[in-house]
Amino acid sequence: MKKTTFLLSDEDYKSIQRYFLENFALVLNGDITDQKLSRLELLCREENVKTPLDLLNTDFGTDVSTGLSKLISIFTINHTDFFREQLHFDFFISDILPNLSLNNGPFKENDIRIWSAASSTGEEAYSILMAMIDYFGDDYWSLNAGVLATDIDKEALSKGIAGLFKNSKIKKLSNNQISKYFSRLNDREYLIQEKLRNEVLFRWLNLNSSYFPMRNNFHVIFCRNVLQYFPISSRGKIVQKLSDCLFNNGYLFLGISETYIMEQHDLIRVGPAIYKKMK
Ligand SMILES: C[S@@+](CC[C@H](N)C(=O)[O-])C[C@H]1O[C@@H](n2cnc3c(N)ncnc32)[C@H](O)[C@@H]1O
Repeated sequence: MKKTTFLLSDEDYKSIQRYFLENFALVLNGDITDQKLSRLELLCREENVKTPLDLLNTDFGTDVSTGLSKLISIFTINHTDFFREQLHFDFFISDILPNLSLNNGPFKENDIRIWSAASSTGEEAYSILMAMIDYFGDDYWSLNAGVLATDIDKEALSKGIAGLFKNSKIKKLSNNQISKYFSRLNDREYLIQEKLRNEVLFRWLNLNSSYFPMRNNFHVIFCRNVLQYFPISSRGKIVQKLSDCLFNNGYLFLGISETYIMEQHDLIRVGPAIYKKMK
């Protein structure tokens, strides 16, 4: 591999680490890799700045500048999958959807509000949607449902909006799901159908911001496999803010290896990293 010529002093890298921690609650562990250094070098050339530090600014609320958003993409970990942690989807289908459906259960609404927080490239949001359409059948289209998908990584969000997935990504899905929800573009790629793409709203949102600008609460929030990158001191506060965005009897999913619920939250554990809001 070509050795990078870009120089980032230890001090500069520490400044970037501090910036990510303070603004996004993200802990950037360990030394910076050659691959990241090469990407940083390219980014500085593209953005016409001397150092990545020139791209750091705190003047953002609900959006970030192009340079900063590309910098964020270099450091975020976007690993995700369709129906990742399948037992969460089993619970969603067997225990949650029957209570949300058509004015049954505690919610008494025709509106189903679901948020995939830290959605990465959209596989989680599209899995939630496929589960709902499989469950409700044609009735799904008469509901006021859909999924809000948010992340701080705009490149990841753009991939979610495009809805283009490699063969290797969809191999976990059944043939029925593939033919029902995707169009085959070529030997390597599948495109998720437009009617599904229209059901997911992708937006930039920082989980570390002081408040979440939502027009209403949610019945279900998936916030999986992101809190593990945050310092322990931030996790509880973010869980509390998520809980504040849930309707009573609403559900919060964390990643299976993440269990950060403490007694002061209004949440009780009802399954592996699954919590129900009980006031
Ligand atoms: C490992 S992915 C998890 C994707 C999906 N939730 C799942 O479980 O498969 C973590 C995502 O969290 C996002 N992220 C990191 N810090 C964030 C923050 N402060 N606010 C919102 N999203 C954040 C990253 O950009 C990344 O896409």
